[in-house]
Amino acid sequence: MLIDGRPMRTIWPAAGGVMEIIDQTRLPHRVETVRLETLDDFVAAIADMRVRGAPLIGVTAAWGLATALRGDPSDEALARAGARLVAARPTAVNLAWAIERMARAVRPLALADRAPAAAAEAAAIAEEDVAACRRIGEHGADLIAALASRKSGGPVNVLTHCNAGWLATVDWGTALAPIYVAAERGIEVHVWVDETRPRNQGAALTAFELGQQGIAHTIVADNAGGHLMQHGKVDLCLVGADRITRTGDAANKIGTYLKALAAMDNAVPFHVAAPISTIDWNISDGAAEIAIEQRDSREVTHMTGSTVDGAIVEVMIAAPGSAAANYAFDVTPARLISGFITERGMSAAHGLAAMTSDSEFLVRATASRS
Ligand code: MRU
Repeated sequence: MLIDGRPMRTIWPAAGGVMEIIDQTRLPHRVETVRLETLDDFVAAIADMRVRGAPLIGVTAAWGLATALRGDPSDEALARAGARLVAARPTAVNLAWAIERMARAVRPLALADRAPAAAAEAAAIAEEDVAACRRIGEHGADLIAALASRKSGGPVNVLTHCNAGWLATVDWGTALAPIYVAAERGIEVHVWVDETRPRNQGAALTAFELGQQGIAHTIVADNAGGHLMQHGKVDLCLVGADRITRTGDAANKIGTYLKALAAMDNAVPFHVAAPISTIDWNISDGAAEIAIEQRDSREVTHMTGSTVDGAIVEVMIAAPGSAAANYAFDVTPARLISGFITERGMSAAHGLAAMTSDSEFLVRATASRS
């Protein structure tokens, strides 16, 4: 997608065999890029959220593993580097998914062939992510078009939480891809952007990327969604996911569950957009089985932003000495989800139930209620 009119991706190969990323901790105030040269660089970029969003951390981990294998292609190095990358953030399944896929691709090969094969596999994962997100956009735009045709004028108002746009993937995004494709089709869309405390991915990243693509949007405080829905100002809630159980429970950024409850109470459709790689086919009870990342409490007690002079500073917003807890994700049960939008189409949440394998999804994917 575009930054200052220039097409960009979130991660790309640079000269000298290293990778470059947009440093998302500096957005929206600065567009800075960072070079990732060693396994340590990749692990730190994921843990410190210079790259974030489930699909993007999966792709970054794949490139991190390819980088590690350049120095040491042994089985031990493969296992050690993979374990470090997977441990960098625990909730999104895409990390483990990418590392398992990379290991499957390189393990049968001779040591000398492993590093180039790993680089090719990481590049393939990145390209597949772009294609999957574009297809999510096409399917989701159909849903937005259907909602537009039921309205008697005015934009389709979409509420989103956190950032599940192109900055959370390699390109296009998941929850925001349908909005970009709908805009391409000439459908008028307005996005309510939850600020998304504590790290403000909504206010900082979603608003930034929507603004860069010229999409109408309004940032709201995290607690405003219920009020907006009660007053008929939301036609659709559209969010991403970090891990989806085979029964359709979805982990996403903390606060997503509360939006789903408000949506159910107000009969607002609540859809989750994610690639198939975000489904964890091994688990069925999201609240019990999905590990919820707990991050540094400083992210709750402090905030980083720009002064009017343009300096980026951190300020403390809490009473000194108070304890703070920082749960990064929550789980929305399937019963609150109207449907999933994947690269293979739309599926009712209950359509995921009883599915035990990836291939069954192909057979069972059906149009969901909108
Ligand atoms: O902590 P983050 O910023 O990595 O959390 C991101 C989200 O919760 C996204 O909604 C999710 O990863 C889906 S991204 C397409």
